[in-house]
Amino acid sequence: MHYWKKMTVQERRNRIAQALQENINFTDEISLGFPASKLDGKVFYDDAPFLKDAPTLQAFVANPNNIGCHTLGVSERVFKGTQNIEREVLNVIAVDIFKAAPGSFDGYIAPGGTEANIQALWMYRNHFINEYHATPNEIAIVSSEDTHYSIPKGSNLLMIDWLRIPVEFNSRNIKKDKLEQIVTDAKNNGKKYFIVVLNMGTTMFGSVDSITDYTDILEAHNLEYQLHIDGAYGGFVYPFSNSDSNLNFANPKVSSITIDAHKMLQAPYGTGIFVCRKGLIENVLTKEAEYVEGMDLTICGSRSGANAVAVWMILFTYGPHGWFENISVLQMRTDWLCKELDQMGIAYYRNRFMNIVTLKADHITEEIANRFQLVPQKHDKTNKWYKIVLMTHVEVDDLMAFIEVLKSERTVV
Ligand SMILES: Cc1ncc(COP(=O)(O)O)c(C=O)c1O
Repeated sequence: MHYWKKMTVQERRNRIAQALQENINFTDEISLGFPASKLDGKVFYDDAPFLKDAPTLQAFVANPNNIGCHTLGVSERVFKGTQNIEREVLNVIAVDIFKAAPGSFDGYIAPGGTEANIQALWMYRNHFINEYHATPNEIAIVSSEDTHYSIPKGSNLLMIDWLRIPVEFNSRNIKKDKLEQIVTDAKNNGKKYFIVVLNMGTTMFGSVDSITDYTDILEAHNLEYQLHIDGAYGGFVYPFSNSDSNLNFANPKVSSITIDAHKMLQAPYGTGIFVCRKGLIENVLTKEAEYVEGMDLTICGSRSGANAVAVWMILFTYGPHGWFENISVLQMRTDWLCKELDQMGIAYYRNRFMNIVTLKADHITEEIANRFQLVPQKHDKTNKWYKIVLMTHVEVDDLMAFIEVLKSERTVV
C-alpha cells in the first residue's frame, strides 16, 4: 500500500480541519466573485456543537465546490484543501486498489456510476476522433446484455452504436460465438473502433466479465479498441475477495475504471468515481470553460468537495485491512446463504467472489419476493430472476427468516 492506511479519530479530524482551512472561508474572508457560499446559516446551523466532532458535516456546511479535475493542470485556488482530499482518495483507489503506478492516472469523483461510465464513453469516442479521425458511425460500444443501462444511455447521448452481446442463461458468460458474429458483421458494416465495457459485477447478477473473451476476438480481427471496466458495484468487493483479479491497471489492456463509493462503501450519494490512465482525459477538455481556473475535463461541472471528504473519511477509518475484513464477513454470509439454498435445491446464480445471489424466479412467489424486498430483473410477468444483495445491513438472522419462509411456503422445489 502506497497511500492507504487506518487513521485514528484525532488524525482524521486534524486532516479534514487542515483541508477546510486551506479552502476559502466564506464567513471570515472577503470573496466577491464566486456564485457560492457556505450553506444557508438559518437552515444549516454552522455553530451547532456536534459539528466540531463531525468532519464530514463540517465539510457539507462549508460547501466547497470541487469543480474540474484535480489530477491534471491547475484547479480553482480557493478550494485547494478539498481538492487535495480528493487526490488522496483517488490515489487510494487507482494505486492501492487498482494497481496503477503513482502519478500515472487521472480521475475525479463524479455524481455517480452513470456519469463515470458515460465519461469513459465520451473520452474514448473523442480519442478515436482525435487520434484516428474516426467518424462517430465508425465507433461502437461492445458489452454484454447484462451491462448497466448507463451504457445504452451513453450510446444514445453520444450517438454511437451499442453492440449488445447475449449471455448464457445460467452462467451469465457472454456467448463468444455471438460476439464473433456481431463483431464480424460490425466490421463488414464499417465499424473500425471499439469501446469495450467489461463488468466487474453486473447490477443484477454480480457476474464478472473476462477480458480475454473480448480482446482475443477484437485482436484476431486487428481492430482498435479501448477497454473500460464498470466496477460501480463490485469495485469495492472483487479486488478484495479475488487477489488474482486482472481487472486493474496492472493489466495493460485496461484503460479506465468506474467504482462507486455510494454503493458498497456506504458513502453519501454523489460519489461515483472515475479513474483512467494518463493521456486520455485531455480528449474531453472543454476549452470554453474559461471562467473555471484550469478549465474542465468532467461532464458535471460543479460538485461537492464534501463528497470527497466523506469518501476519504470511510477509507481512512477502516484502512485496507479493516475493509478486507468487512468484505470477508459479507463473503461468509453469502456462502451461508448459498449453502442453505443448495440444501433446499433452489437454483441461483452467484459469482464466488461476489456478494450478490440471484435466484431463479420460479422458486419464489411474488408475495415472498415483495415481503423480503427482493429485486426482480424485470417488473413484469416475464421476470425470471430475483436478487439478494448482501450489503452490511443484511445479516444472517434476516437471511434465516427468509430461508424459514421459503421452507414452509415455497411453491416449486
Ligand atoms: C454495474 C453498475 N454500473 C453503473 C451503475 C450506475 O450507478 P449510479 O446509479 O450511481 O449512476 C450501477 C447502479 O446500480 C451499477 O450497478
